[in-house]
Amino acid sequence: MAEPVDFAQNLKQQADIVRVIGDYVKLRKSGAVNFTGLCPFHNEKSPSFSVHVTKQFFHCFGCGASGDVYSFLQKIDNISFPEAVKALALKLGVPMPKQAFSGPGEAADAALRGKLIDIHERATAFFQEQLRAPEAAKAREYLAGRGLDAENIARFRIGFAPDSGFALRDRVRGSFDDHVLRQSGLFSWKDRDTDPEGVNTPVANMYSRFRNRITFPICSEQGKVIAFTARTLETGEKAGPKYLNSPETALYSKSRVLFNLDKAKEVIRKVEYVILVEGQMDCITVFTSGFQNVIASSGTAFTETQVQLLKRFTRNIIVNFDPDTAGAAAAERSIAMLLEEDFDIRLVSLEPGFDPDLFIRKKGKDAYREVLGKPQRYFDWLIERALKMFPPRSPEARVKAINYLLPHIQRIPNAIVRDDVAKNAAQKFGIADQILRQQLRDAAGKRSGTIKSAQASGNTVAEKVLICALTDAANPELRQRAVEAVAAELHRGLNNESMIERLSSISLETDPMSLDWDDAQRQELAGVLIHGHEDVNEALLDETLYTLRQRRMEQRKRELNAEIAEAERRSDSGRLGQLLAELKQLEREQRPQ
Ligand code: CTP
Ligand code: MN
Repeated sequence: MAEPVDFAQNLKQQADIVRVIGDYVKLRKSGAVNFTGLCPFHNEKSPSFSVHVTKQFFHCFGCGASGDVYSFLQKIDNISFPEAVKALALKLGVPMPKQAFSGPGEAADAALRGKLIDIHERATAFFQEQLRAPEAAKAREYLAGRGLDAENIARFRIGFAPDSGFALRDRVRGSFDDHVLRQSGLFSWKDRDTDPEGVNTPVANMYSRFRNRITFPICSEQGKVIAFTARTLETGEKAGPKYLNSPETALYSKSRVLFNLDKAKEVIRKVEYVILVEGQMDCITVFTSGFQNVIASSGTAFTETQVQLLKRFTRNIIVNFDPDTAGAAAAERSIAMLLEEDFDIRLVSLEPGFDPDLFIRKKGKDAYREVLGKPQRYFDWLIERALKMFPPRSPEARVKAINYLLPHIQRIPNAIVRDDVAKNAAQKFGIADQILRQQLRDAAGKRSGTIKSAQASGNTVAEKVLICALTDAANPELRQRAVEAVAAELHRGLNNESMIERLSSISLETDPMSLDWDDAQRQELAGVLIHGHEDVNEALLDETLYTLRQRRMEQRKRELNAEIAEAERRSDSGRLGQLLAELKQLEREQRPQ
């Protein structure tokens, strides 16, 4: 069995860092060996985040974040190194060696999760099959009534949980251990509150959680079914909640999943924005009407995890639920969270009483496309709302309006946008710009984390060329000449003298970014690697070495002249002769051939 370290190394070689990071950051090719995008580790408007294709590292010239594919995963998902290895293995579909699990507990966990995925797959197929049974006539009618045809029912794998406590249980029992059934969230038992693990309850006493309901699978980002939400067909007292969801399991955590992200993510990347709706029926109707970049919050406020998840695909969002109504609090909290992450938020408000699902079914998708086409900027909406709540007829009302707006504006991470919104608000409220803006500035003053601007490099062209040549694994001859130049001390006196020396002493296989440079050196090195390589060739190196040699000779000449003066002073004619000979030799060498 391979050692974990070897496994991690091997895996890293199989991975393409551009594709891995591309899942989190929208990258654009910006050179022969590099891609750039907006740094996921700090807020920025113009990209200073680079990924090097051949050297397989990332570096942000804004915040200095830097590293290989594992450090990226560790940092972005806030996980440990072993977890990053596992995550990468999963992405590449490479099975983990057994020993790489840090303990038996973890291995058991992974095994359970695998079983839970299997049982959800079985349950999904079972519910789909049941939707075709005679008993499901009402369910089919219901779905047809909501405009869902066979194709879309199949696409979302919508099913029917029959009105039986045992059908599903008896179907899957033979294939799974009891503890898998207990932990699947698909079943319930009487004393679930006192015995959440079901250890005192035999599986024979367990019954289906979902009965006589339409089932909607909830999928992981990879498209595996990990939970269900199920809508009742009943109306009235006995119906229970309209939607019943799976509980939290080893597989499913509501706060980490966005409904439909698996189907929407590619389109979100392509059209560069996401539509957020509240309910999964809204989501399905919007999706099947041709707007595939849609996800649902499922009736609760976004969590930090969900925002981070979404951020990987876009930062442009059109929120399509009315924050004025029932879900207002959840919507406000979601928006606040999105604002802090620098999302561009726009709102689409439908007429009162309409959710996207109803709107599309009543008015058609063209009408929906039209409202989508003219969303309101979140702050325009907010200012309008403040105007409605506090008509600016008195100084007091203006103060109230400002106090209402301030905390929202304060959340905007970008100073320019913040200022712009403040200006706009000031104008609408009829307040002299400076006063409101001063207030804002005071209020927003606490906002720290200004982005360190990418420092102008103090590097000379010569050292850039040397560093490039020294790190050009694709061109060993070029590298060899640079190594010789360092041996001849041509690099002495350069800003990055010590770095160049170190680069000349490592082997070709060593990844230069993996060495323990200080921050400034790392920044320098990344800059050269990302922006330099393609232009460095034999001719440029020749020219550079010539310049360095000249420089070195000038320096030596100065030293010689000083030594000559000293020898003259001491009347050391022997030493003087030596020095003069050397000077003559130098001058001969320096003359162009
Ligand atoms: N929700 C839930 N549990 C409930 C009610 C609602 O989880 N008991 C969530 C669901 O994700 C639902 C969303 O909140 O989709 C919005 O709820 P609501 O507006 O009541 O439902 P609709 O989506 O309009 O449902 P439908 O169109 O099926 O009536
Ligand atoms: Mn609805």
